[in-house]
Amino acid sequence: MTASPIAHYGRISRLLHWGMAALFAFQFVTAGVHFAFPDTALEVAVWGAHMPLGALLMLLVVVRVLWAVIDRPQRPSALNRAATLGHLALYALMVGVPVLALLRQYGSGRAFAPFGVPLMPGFEGEEVEWMTALGGLLHGELAWALLALIAGHVGMVLWHRRMGGQDVRGRMTAR
Ligand code: HEM
Ligand code: HEM
Repeated sequence: MTASPIAHYGRISRLLHWGMAALFAFQFVTAGVHFAFPDTALEVAVWGAHMPLGALLMLLVVVRVLWAVIDRPQRPSALNRAATLGHLALYALMVGVPVLALLRQYGSGRAFAPFGVPLMPGFEGEEVEWMTALGGLLHGELAWALLALIAGHVGMVLWHRRMGGQDVRGRMTAR
């Protein structure tokens, strides 16, 4: 007797996927406004959310990576090698982008308390230059690369549905 193939991701994986997708969408809105409309009332309204929300996404991605490892046997098998590599690249950037920003934040010596939680006390004296330089160089760039990869990810879901004849969408929905 062969085991029946697993048709879709479980409830916790779906909650993490769609919950984080919504938070990422808002995070990119704040970044886009910061980029396109600096020093406007719109920027004042949304940019304040960027750093705390980024810290929350950092926490959620740690939970998500741990859950992906624990849940692996219960997940549908990868469609192909490109899909596996694509998902790994998404994970790498989901981790790397906030890590670089938090590193820069720490190195700046400024206190950081997202949602009132005292994460970094800050310190007196010189900033840690390699941390601020690395974050300054790569955080924004890699975040835009993540956005491009997300667009490709959504594009592949649609492509598989239209051209490939495989409706992978159902793997990530409750039905
Ligand atoms: C996964 C979460 C995050 C995403 C997707 C993200 C996305 C972005 C993007 C796309 C930009 C570029 C905006 C531009 O080109 O003007 C940016 C800039 C910025 N982000 Fe984030 N961010 C995240 C987390 C964080 C965190 C945790 C912090 C701080 C603790 C932070 C602080 C900043 C700052 C200060 C800038 C402006 C300077 C720069 O362009 O590097 N971000 N972010
Ligand atoms: C409208 C937006 C989105 C749609 C329609 C969508 C759809 C899907 C579907 C159908 C799968 C299952 C694919 C398979 O098993 O072959 C999947 C998996 C995945 N998606 Fe998305 N997705 C969206 C947004 C995002 C965003 C914003 C991210 C990350 C920033 C993301 C990251 C992932 C990852 C890492 C997986 C692998 C499963 C996991 O570990 O969660 N997706 N997505």
